[in-house]
Amino acid sequence: MTKNNFYITTPIYYPSAKPHMGHAYSSIVADFFARFKRINEYNVFFLTGTDEHGQKIQRAASEAEKDTLQFCDEISSNFKNLSAVLNLSNDDFIRTTEKRHKIAVEQLWNILEKKNEIYLSKYSGWYSVSDEAFYSENEIEEKDNIKISKLSGSKVEWVEEESFFFKLSKWEKKLLEYYEKNPGFIRPESRRNEVISFVKGGLKDLSVSRKSITWGINVPSQKDHIIYVWLDALTNYLSALDYPNIDTDKYKNFWPASVHIIGKDILRFHAIYWPAFLLAANLPLPKTIYGHGWILSNDEKMSKSKGNILDPLEIIDKYGLDPLRFYLLKEVSFGNDGNISKRKLENCINSDLANNYGNLCQRVIAFNEKNFGLEIPKNIKFNNEDLNLLNRFKENYSKIESAINKQDINYYMNFLMETLFAANKYFNDQEPWNKKKDLNRLNTIIYVSLELIRKISILMYPIIPETSLKALNIFNIKEKDINFNSLLNNEFLKQGIKINKINILIKKIIND
Ligand code: ME8
Ligand code: MG
Repeated sequence: MTKNNFYITTPIYYPSAKPHMGHAYSSIVADFFARFKRINEYNVFFLTGTDEHGQKIQRAASEAEKDTLQFCDEISSNFKNLSAVLNLSNDDFIRTTEKRHKIAVEQLWNILEKKNEIYLSKYSGWYSVSDEAFYSENEIEEKDNIKISKLSGSKVEWVEEESFFFKLSKWEKKLLEYYEKNPGFIRPESRRNEVISFVKGGLKDLSVSRKSITWGINVPSQKDHIIYVWLDALTNYLSALDYPNIDTDKYKNFWPASVHIIGKDILRFHAIYWPAFLLAANLPLPKTIYGHGWILSNDEKMSKSKGNILDPLEIIDKYGLDPLRFYLLKEVSFGNDGNISKRKLENCINSDLANNYGNLCQRVIAFNEKNFGLEIPKNIKFNNEDLNLLNRFKENYSKIESAINKQDINYYMNFLMETLFAANKYFNDQEPWNKKKDLNRLNTIIYVSLELIRKISILMYPIIPETSLKALNIFNIKEKDINFNSLLNNEFLKQGIKINKINILIKKIIND
């Protein structure tokens, strides 16, 4: 049987400073989808990496008085380290300073030039180094005598130099037609509308080379020009798949990408420039660009000046990784902005994870140990109540799959939390401790409770893989054996088989 393929990416981050919570968020979200698709029997490729060229990085390195590549090596390794700390299941980590990437960018450039999509002219206008973006006059405002972008708030400077241009204006109609025909291309809906109205406002040709900088990939036909860092960076999604070699399994299996996960700040680059470059090069377009919201720190935008930047490493140190992953996926409504506060995080750990999930596992196993000697009960007979609960998974199976296909994390989390609640309620209401005279019923209640723990833990796997694996170890289920499909089976657990004890799954936070 040939497997379905699934290719998911995070943005490649600028290694201009340490990674922060926003970077961790995009990566955790992408990891959630990658892990879900793997247990749903897809052939998955999950990519992340760092975006190392351009003026922003050149400046950051010179401010740090470091050799630029050495600077990139250091900070890129912080991002690589973060991927490991976040327990990302990425299949590759791309750096745009790698040779495989340079080859891909040069090839894409050559194709665009050959197809007459690029011409030499002169750019004069505003540029933000921090965003690596050009802004038009009406996107600029003045604050405290400094010209800034209205969109991002970052400082802009005047640039005037010879530059190659990409014929972006030519693709305006084609892009609008494409958005129209492919409603799932840009998600969520609000961002789709935003992009459509921007494109309807008219597209100007895009400056795609710079003469005044040196850190980047040279225009092959004119070495005194450096390729615009966004044309360079976006190509990473292809270079990680062996492009320009399009005969490899990697390229054939995984291009076009299934989902590019990005933040709303870089929507224009992904939803307008990227598909225009691809259309011009006659390459297939990615299926979905998902622009998620902003992570706020105590309801405010994180910024260096406010000193409220959340460091994922600090939070993980204090609370552990899985609590953070769970919090970000549950408490931030995917697509919207979301807030992190210590109080809400602690509440989530204590009530959702420790009380609801951890306790359920703990209580059922302790009861089993005492009454069944750590064995799956035999002689079971489901009643309607048992079946109602167990069948929730069967009934929602395809709804969960299709929710995930629309990146609807909220649906997934709601289903999971409701089920967890129902499982706890079941164990309380059934009062197995009062059923010791009705052995058939007692066996069945414990069997059902164990099946529920198994099913819930499978759904927990993409969210909190490490904790879920600890819980699944009760049943000797290993990572490679986890299968979403097994939720359809209500008698997956073999009667009479030995199970394992577990240590505390989630530690409660106790404040004095
Ligand atoms: O833009 N909340 O890199 P970057 C949520 N190199 N997500 C956030 C966030 C926040 N407060 N802050 C950052 C670049 N992010 C380019 C990308 S891709 C071909 C090139 C996340 O280091 C979010 O995903 O500035 C955002 O889009 C990304 O980090 C920007 O990272
Ligand atoms: Mg940025």
